[in-house]
Amino acid sequence: MFSSRFKWNLETNQLARLIEEKKRAGVKLLDLTESNPTRAGFVYPSTEILSALMQPQAMHYDPNPRGLLSARQSVADYYQALGQNVDADRIFLTASTSEAYSWLFKLLADQGDAVLVPQPSYPLFDFLAALEGVQLQPYELTYLHPSGWRIDFDSLAQSVTPQTRAIIVVNPNNPTGSYLKRKEFAQLEAFCLAHQLALIVDEVFRDYALVEDAERVTAFDATSVLTFVMNGFSKTLALPQMKLGWILPFGAAALRREAETRLELIADTFLSVNTPVQLAAPAWFQLRTALQQQILARVKENLHFLATVVENSPLRLLTTEGGWSATLEIPRRASEEEQLLRLLAEKDVLVHPGYFFDFDREAFFVLSLLPRTEIFRVAVEKIIAADDG
Ligand SMILES: Cc1ncc(COP(=O)(O)O)c(C=O)c1O
Repeated sequence: MFSSRFKWNLETNQLARLIEEKKRAGVKLLDLTESNPTRAGFVYPSTEILSALMQPQAMHYDPNPRGLLSARQSVADYYQALGQNVDADRIFLTASTSEAYSWLFKLLADQGDAVLVPQPSYPLFDFLAALEGVQLQPYELTYLHPSGWRIDFDSLAQSVTPQTRAIIVVNPNNPTGSYLKRKEFAQLEAFCLAHQLALIVDEVFRDYALVEDAERVTAFDATSVLTFVMNGFSKTLALPQMKLGWILPFGAAALRREAETRLELIADTFLSVNTPVQLAAPAWFQLRTALQQQILARVKENLHFLATVVENSPLRLLTTEGGWSATLEIPRRASEEEQLLRLLAEKDVLVHPGYFFDFDREAFFVLSLLPRTEIFRVAVEKIIAADDG
């Protein structure tokens, strides 16, 4: 009856059952998996946000597969403010970055083809790829303390096969917070050209750098590799509910134009971005600095607290350069799963285990840095106390 894309066990696991039990018992969890900015106590200028949706043109349907020019221009203006020239005509609007992935998989891969994905990284790839009939080929990011995470090019070379169509780079990566560096990018470009691969760059956390580094790659406009840069409102404006993302194609002109023509057909098939949101986009972009400042201040404060309290403990905070999460290496006194369940059962603290992001070994906890500082602090102290026994 159902498609073989569904390879997942849809039954609830022990963790989900324990969370449910706690909630039913009225326990208020200290939730350090919370990465939804609309639930983290930030102040949104609601009147300005909502009034931008009330535009008379929103009553007309004038579809354009790439999205309304005014909205695309506001995306181009955003890049301009970051010092990058982007032609609004080249931008494709999508309903989200997740949808952008699905369009790019449709564009680049046949059923059974593969894409290379970083490990550790964002767990939604499993679903996004499987739902398009695409295989995932992991390549490792390796960690050196304190310099941070780097692409393991040996593992990339071992994973690529004739079925590989693209490499995904998350810049900065979730949850490691690592940015692609110039030297890595030069090596990656050569690899893509040698294997005829496209590059998919997910930049949803690009504006949340926690430290500066001139070695970071911030623009992909000069590459001859067929490259698709993706971003969206869910992190850039902390408005995931508004559902707007975009794709920016780069690369050698002839190949890029061919890709754009095909992408336009995919976009035209769905026309998934709604008109009121596109009309509101220019006004919403004006709120970017204020929204990002609040989030950056919170994330930095939580990270600073974490670094301070972990310093004299057996736990180790891994170096992070950007994004909304931090990774703690914890002594492997039991499996990640056991430690995670104990933390929840005994201390009411919820964190993500490293295996959720496919870390290559145990034991790690990944903490969202978004929660309110008072919640974050109590939860972190309980994590440290739990390790003490
Ligand atoms: C790295 C990364 N890419 C994409 C997304 C999804 O973004 P969107 O809400 O635009 O689909 C997320 C969400 O957490 C993410 O962490």
